[in-house]
Amino acid sequence: MCGIVGYIGKRRARDYIIQGLKILEYRGYDSAGLAVFDGCGKINCIKRAGYVSQLESATIGTEGNCGIGHTRWATHGAPSDVNSHPHTCGKFTLVHNGIIENFVSIKSQLANKGKRFLTQTDSEAIAVFLDDVYDGDVIKALSAALKKLKGSFALAILCKDFPDKIFVVKKQSPLVVGIGDAECFVASDCMAFSQYTDKAVYLKDNEIGEVSSQGIKLFDGNGNRKAVKIEKTATEYFAPADCKSFMYKEIYEIPKAVQYTAEEFFANDEKKLGVVDIFSKNDKVVMIGCGTAYNACLVGKNIFETVLRVPVEVELASEFRYKNPIIDDKTVVVAVSQSGETADTIAGVRLAKSKGADVVVITNVAHSSITRYADMVLHTKAGAEVAVAATKSYLTQILLFLCVATVLSDDLKSVAAIKKEIESLPQLTQKTLALDEQVHKLAKEFCKKQSVFFIGRGLDYALALEGTLKLKEVSYIHSEGFASGELKHGTLALIDKNALVIAVVTQRHVAEKTCNALHEVQARGGKVVIITPFEKAKNDVECDAFLQLPSSSGLIAPMSAIIPLQLFAYYMSIERGINPDKPRNLAKSVTVE
Ligand code: M6R
Repeated sequence: MCGIVGYIGKRRARDYIIQGLKILEYRGYDSAGLAVFDGCGKINCIKRAGYVSQLESATIGTEGNCGIGHTRWATHGAPSDVNSHPHTCGKFTLVHNGIIENFVSIKSQLANKGKRFLTQTDSEAIAVFLDDVYDGDVIKALSAALKKLKGSFALAILCKDFPDKIFVVKKQSPLVVGIGDAECFVASDCMAFSQYTDKAVYLKDNEIGEVSSQGIKLFDGNGNRKAVKIEKTATEYFAPADCKSFMYKEIYEIPKAVQYTAEEFFANDEKKLGVVDIFSKNDKVVMIGCGTAYNACLVGKNIFETVLRVPVEVELASEFRYKNPIIDDKTVVVAVSQSGETADTIAGVRLAKSKGADVVVITNVAHSSITRYADMVLHTKAGAEVAVAATKSYLTQILLFLCVATVLSDDLKSVAAIKKEIESLPQLTQKTLALDEQVHKLAKEFCKKQSVFFIGRGLDYALALEGTLKLKEVSYIHSEGFASGELKHGTLALIDKNALVIAVVTQRHVAEKTCNALHEVQARGGKVVIITPFEKAKNDVECDAFLQLPSSSGLIAPMSAIIPLQLFAYYMSIERGINPDKPRNLAKSVTVE
């Protein structure tokens, strides 16, 4: 939520800031702004509601080699020019990612001292606070801020007294400083500067940094100097969407994503032994995640229970973190998060650790915050996922559950079969992409629908839930996912001639049952689409559209079936004139509660 960038060095800061903000726009895109020292000690601050492209045109000609920028996902205060970052008070101009939970009381304390506020944001309170406590020592003021502010924050700050420095602070929101040749980059995600340097300093919670063109000086929360550790960044060069959109591009990257993820997992013997060790010493498995990652856990549960005959509990991380979960030092909690920055999932992991559980993290971002709490990290190799809708990452998460099951199972025959299927996945998913045109036609036909239902049984029910989430978030159409056997227990009342029901049928043993449910839909005049590898289903139901998946076994089939669901959501979005990469009200990385 919100992207921060900063630059100091020999280039024109504005150019890097705009470029970096475009790369980080997935983190929030309701407004953007920048502030740059003009070379004579003055700070030029320009901010606008709207996309970074609007800021780009408003900042042409902005000179200076030191500056900060921000792309916003509003938490406090509507998206507007005035609420956009940077915020300025006195000598301080700053950008903020996160939430200041006690901003109301800070504001009222400062207001009582006669300070004025111009915005409805929580972030402005930080600038006003810094201005209030500043006595010429910025590090001291920032230490005081760390003690005063409650909540999560990553800050990049300019102070008029130091036109050749950017100050940074981190607590529970990501912040990384890229170290170049006589230049430094500040960003929420190293993707923003990965084309300039692969050396970076990942700030830890409660650290303060003083960044100059020569590098970074680090301080702890009390202002004491700390050693600096420079690491190699893991993100590959950010590839711009050279086709229709990032969502479309990322769906088409699925075959490679699954190939790389499986290769990485099976090539690492130490990791496989670690998996065996961690799962065999525990007797309870709990999986947590949010949104698509949660839906992947539902599939993971099914895989573990089918292959390993081990019971698994799945919890929404946002619920798990606020209950008193029945877990202890004999529990392994598997936390799934593409970004590794989701606040609810990180909080769930911290709770699990506090109760003595072991934590296995499945994430797509190697240096992400969540990895710091993990006993073991399993890395999905989906590559950077920029579109807000999770697509390729979902498949790689499911794939890792399958990979883990193969090393934990002692049924050698079924392990060999699953491994063979995993090997065939790049091909299987590639073949499935051939449904593209057919799916596009469907979207053209149904894009005016006001409501779409997805149904399935067992694993297919988990897929139905993911299909519905995808459709809602990028097309704004009301949609629900149901276990097909549940229709007659209430939902059937919603079905009439306006209804569209999409059935996922990949589980042979319950295929007929779902087809029966479709008959019930048709009897009420509803339209019916079937997605299945079973040709026979065509004869069982006279459907309005039939999407034939390439054949594969029950455990692997969901990985293929999700592709037409993702493409359907994508095309519905396009047909309705929506930008699928930037759906309203959402951001890729949900770093606040
Ligand atoms: O980065 P994470 O996997 O932790 O994100 C979790 C959810 O916010 C995410 O999956 C969200 O539901 C997606 N936008 C769905 O497409």
